[in-house]
Amino acid sequence: MKTPFQNQAIYSVLLLTVFSLAAFNESASAQGIDARKLKRGREVYEHYCVVCHGKNGDGKGHLGLVRYTIQRFHKRGLLWYFLPADFTLGVFKLRSTPTGCLPTDEDLMRTVTMGIPRSGMPSHKVLPEEDRRAVVEYIKTFSERWQEEEPCDSISVPRRYAWVGSDTSAEKGKKLYIKLKCWECHGYTGEGNGPKADRLVDDRGNKVIPLDFTTGLLKRGLTPESLYLTFTTGFDGSGMPSYEDSLPDVQMRWHLVSYVLKLMGRTKSITIGSEGTLHAGE
Ligand code: HEC
Ligand code: HEC
Repeated sequence: MKTPFQNQAIYSVLLLTVFSLAAFNESASAQGIDARKLKRGREVYEHYCVVCHGKNGDGKGHLGLVRYTIQRFHKRGLLWYFLPADFTLGVFKLRSTPTGCLPTDEDLMRTVTMGIPRSGMPSHKVLPEEDRRAVVEYIKTFSERWQEEEPCDSISVPRRYAWVGSDTSAEKGKKLYIKLKCWECHGYTGEGNGPKADRLVDDRGNKVIPLDFTTGLLKRGLTPESLYLTFTTGFDGSGMPSYEDSLPDVQMRWHLVSYVLKLMGRTKSITIGSEGTLHAGE
């Protein structure tokens, strides 16, 4: 006959077994979902992305003719070049996170969905959201940074002051543009022709061109908020630095936005969108 203690021990072992079996099942099915998502991601990648970003995610796609060359077209004042991202580096330009950090999933989703103007990276709006999420998961397998690091928190853009875009604010922004040496790359007149402009290379050693503000096209999108975010986060790997530390004051950041808008000839076009969102129109 068993003592009550023995009964209890058997009961505990049984309970433990049941729990661990349940836990095992749960993680097995989570792995199943992950594996399915990655498989789908790979299919999407090999269909839509491989031509530019390459089978190994290193940016060496079949569009070899233009690969690693820099095209500088002076067509209607527009400078254009084509360098697909190398995902094996794990370094991204379009992040909402501080410099040196990985982007968030939403940052990558936005890039894949909207594409990147002035670069040849197309929009993939037409793909179902599930496929876009799957391909985002898949491109993370190209760099170990995604296993080794936790993504950082996004920098939030504070609500814009009504004076953004005004002459007084742009004047203050101009002083910052000079003090922070934006002109060394972007030029005094913002035409991308500063003294350093012709010597700039990115992390991969490819020649890069600082934006000519007068072309009126932004990779991150045409809003004062995206300008604010660009010089706060920097475009990692591209030579466009982050000014998060050297420009800690929020109002000063908005003054700099005003000046860049002025260089772009867009100060008059800041409007309040239909859903109360603030944006710069055409
Ligand atoms: C026609 C060529 C082309 C195709 C197709 C293409 N891309 Fe790109 N992609 C580019 C180029 C060029 C860049 C570099 C843009 C830059 O650095 O300014 C880029 C950059 C990126 C970036 C990095 C953005 C950053 O923050 O640095 C991501 C992410 C990306 N592409 C994802 C994808 C995915 C996913 C697909 C397929 C669904 C895809 N791309 C298809 C050309 C392409
Ligand atoms: C060391 C050179 C350098 C300096 C200094 C520099 N930039 Fe840039 N900037 C670049 C390069 C290169 C690009 C283009 C990156 C690309 O297209 O991938 C760029 C792009 C930009 C863009 C375009 C972002 C977009 O969405 O396309 C803005 C806005 C910008 N810089 C603002 C500034 C401001 C404001 C300053 C000063 C506070 C500054 N930059 C200082 C090199 C520089």
